Amino acid sequence: MKKVLKVLGIVLGSLVLLAGSFCTYVAILGVPTYDKPTVPVVSVEVTPERVSRGEIISQIQCMGCHSDNNNQLTGKYMGEVPALFGKIYSKNITQDKEKGIGQWTDGQLIYFLRTGLRADGSYAPVMPQYPNLSDEDLSSVVAWLRSDRFPVQPNSTEPQSSDFSFFTKLLTHLVMKPLPYPQHFVAPADSTNSLALGKYTADALGDCFGCHSANFVDQDKINTERTKGYYGGGNEMVGIDGQKVLTANLTFDEQTGIGRKYTREQFIKAVKLGVRPDGSILKYPMTPKMGLSDREVGAIYDYLKTIPKIKNDIESKNAELEMRKK
Ligand code: HEC
Ligand code: HEC
Repeated sequence: MKKVLKVLGIVLGSLVLLAGSFCTYVAILGVPTYDKPTVPVVSVEVTPERVSRGEIISQIQCMGCHSDNNNQLTGKYMGEVPALFGKIYSKNITQDKEKGIGQWTDGQLIYFLRTGLRADGSYAPVMPQYPNLSDEDLSSVVAWLRSDRFPVQPNSTEPQSSDFSFFTKLLTHLVMKPLPYPQHFVAPADSTNSLALGKYTADALGDCFGCHSANFVDQDKINTERTKGYYGGGNEMVGIDGQKVLTANLTFDEQTGIGRKYTREQFIKAVKLGVRPDGSILKYPMTPKMGLSDREVGAIYDYLKTIPKIKNDIESKNAELEMRKK
C-alpha cells in the first residue's frame, strides 16, 4: 500500500513539475516561430475588376481591423477582442516600404493570408486565415492592396506590437496554428447554386462563422462546419462602450434562431445596413457589409436554413447582461 502511494506521489509530482516547466517554457518562448516557408512565386496582375472586387472583400475583412480614424490601413488597437487574449494591435498594411507592407512580394502576401505565417516564419495570432477564399478573390485582395486607392497609400505610421496574454501564447502552442498552404487551385463558388454561394460568402469570404459560433478557440477554419456551435452564436465580444456583446444565433432553431425574427428581405437589410426590422441598430462589432450584393446575402440566408439548428437563447442572455449592468 505504502509503495503504491509512493509511486503515485512520484507520478503526480512529475506531472506537476512537467506542467510547470511547460508553462514557464510557453511564457518565455511566447508565440512560436516556424521554419521559413517556401512562398509561391507569383505576380498578381492589377486589373480594374480585381481592384473593385478586392475593395468589397477588404471592406468586409481588412478595413474593420486595420483602419485608423482617417480610413487608412495603418493599424489600430483592437478593443473588441476580450482582454483574456491580451492587448491586440493590428499592423500597418499600407504600401509604405518601411512601416507597411510595401516590400512584401505578392507571393508572401498570398501565403500569409492563407496560412497566417510570415516569410520569416513568425505566426500572427488573431489575424484571420483565409484557406477557402478562391484564388481569384485572394488575387483581388492583393490587387487592391497594390492599387491607387486611398486607404492603402503609403503612410509611415509606426505599427504597435501586440501584447499577447499567457492564454493566447498557450493557445498558439496547442490549438492556434498556421494552416497548411493549399496544394490545389481554390475555385470560386458556383454562383448558379444559391447554397454553395451562401456557404462561400458566409464562411470563406465573410468569416461570419468566426464570430457567430461558440468561441474563437474551437474553430475549424478549413472544414468550417466542424466548428463548435457553428452559427449558434453566444461568442463573447467587447462593444464600443467596453460592455460585453454576444454574437447572435444565426441558425433556424424555431425558438431561439434567426428564422422567427427575419424574413429573407429583412435579413439582407440587417446584414447590409446594420439595422433590425424594428429599426434598431446592430451593435459593434457587427458592422454593415454594404459591398455584398442582395444575391450573396440572400444566399447566406438560404444556406443558414440548411445547417443544424442550435438552441441558444441569446436574447435572454443579453437581458441578463443588461440586468447585471444596472
Ligand atoms: C479580426 C481582425 C483582422 C482582420 C479581419 C484582418 N486582420 Fe490583418 N492583422 C490583424 C492583427 C491583429 C495583425 C497583427 C498580428 C500580430 O501582432 O502578430 C494583423 C497582421 C496583418 C499582416 C502582417 C503585417 C506585418 O507587418 O506583420 C498583414 C499583411 C495583414 N494583417 C493583412 C490583412 C488583410 C489583407 C486583411 C483582409 C483580407 C486582414 N489583414 C484582415 C488583424 C486582422
Ligand atoms: C466581428 C464579429 C462579427 C462578424 C464577422 C459578423 N458578425 Fe453578425 N453579429 C455580431 C454581433 C456581436 C452581433 C450582435 C449585435 C447586437 O446584439 O446588436 C451580430 C448580429 C448579427 C445579426 C442580427 C441577428 C439578430 O438576432 O438580430 C445578423 C443577421 C448577423 N449578425 C449576420 C452576420 C453575417 C451574415 C455575417 C457575415 C457576412 C456576420 N454577421 C459577421 C458579430 C459579428
